[in-house]
Amino acid sequence: MSKQILILPGDGIGPEIMAEAVKVLEAVNRDHDLGFELVHDDLGGAAIDRYGVPLADETLARARAADAVLLGAVGGPKWDKLERDIRPERGLLKIRSALGLFGNLRPAILYPQLAEASTLKPEVVSGLDILIVRELTGGIYFGSPRETRVLENGERQAFDTLPYSEGEIRRIARVGFDMARLRGKKLCSVDKANVLESSRLWREVVEEVAKDYPDVELSHMYVDNAAMQLVRAPKQFDVIVTDNMFGDILSDEASMLTGSIGMLPSASLDAHNKGMYEPCHGSAPDIAGQGVANPLATILSVAMMLRYTFGAAAAAEAIEAAVGQVLDQGLRTGDIWSEGKQRVGTREMGEAVVAALVRR
Ligand code: IPM
Ligand code: MG
Repeated sequence: MSKQILILPGDGIGPEIMAEAVKVLEAVNRDHDLGFELVHDDLGGAAIDRYGVPLADETLARARAADAVLLGAVGGPKWDKLERDIRPERGLLKIRSALGLFGNLRPAILYPQLAEASTLKPEVVSGLDILIVRELTGGIYFGSPRETRVLENGERQAFDTLPYSEGEIRRIARVGFDMARLRGKKLCSVDKANVLESSRLWREVVEEVAKDYPDVELSHMYVDNAAMQLVRAPKQFDVIVTDNMFGDILSDEASMLTGSIGMLPSASLDAHNKGMYEPCHGSAPDIAGQGVANPLATILSVAMMLRYTFGAAAAAEAIEAAVGQVLDQGLRTGDIWSEGKQRVGTREMGEAVVAALVRR
């Protein structure tokens, strides 16, 4: 039976980086005989323009029918003035939630070739390999009530709600422990338990889950301290598990340790490893259409897809090795360029990865 992958390029640089990722996907599909069928649709601003909503029902149906979804990025100034419920980002949140993709894996790995591209000293980041496990379908992103209202004194007031049920915490904690088990066996749970009620329950439940993982060393850290430790001594971390908003913020921070957010892939998984794969970066409207965006995060997201949803480890490794080779050759998009390296555009970078794959 053929395996379906839904391709959603999205907005801004999304279509450009996706075009390259699809070339890589087609190359491994052929070389490793994976039998993938690619289906294409729109999400975010592109979907607003085409369907009038950021995630059309038929698109969601296609996503449900597919075995995996590959996404570019969504959002842009064109749609910024729209009301919250029909903004491009809503499409992204809705598809994550509707597909039950609660486990978001965001690895921050420093390629040795890019040690110079990080703003931190090479000795602080060299060899860096951490994984942020972000809860993706709960917390303040989805909690209700949420509202802007007018108080009796005429002042506007806005609020959001940060709820976590123990089931939601338990299942993401398990993802964190399972991942730690496959890696350095160290898990740091990040919360704000000195202030937030939801964080206190978070910590309690993580402690309970820890009983099933005596082989994993668990620590807890407040999010403000974690933000500091990530730039002070990032190599102290192996796996970090945290809530939706903290994970959003810390994963952007962690990306900079590696030189560029343009290098970081992500996987968003449901309970059965069905997943949506996307780069951690956004749609970068400022450079959209110029052919200069870094496609490697999306290409590496394809590798994560092969590994996690399809169990095709050899094909995943082939892509990762090809990316390493291209970096060895000195090819760099603008975001990772440094003196003496060859500056290339989106398409050249993508095609160099395909060429490196073919050479193998
Ligand atoms: C991310 C992005 C999204 C998020 C936005 C675009 C809604 O920042 O995937 O990290 O906050 O989850
Ligand atoms: Mg983010």
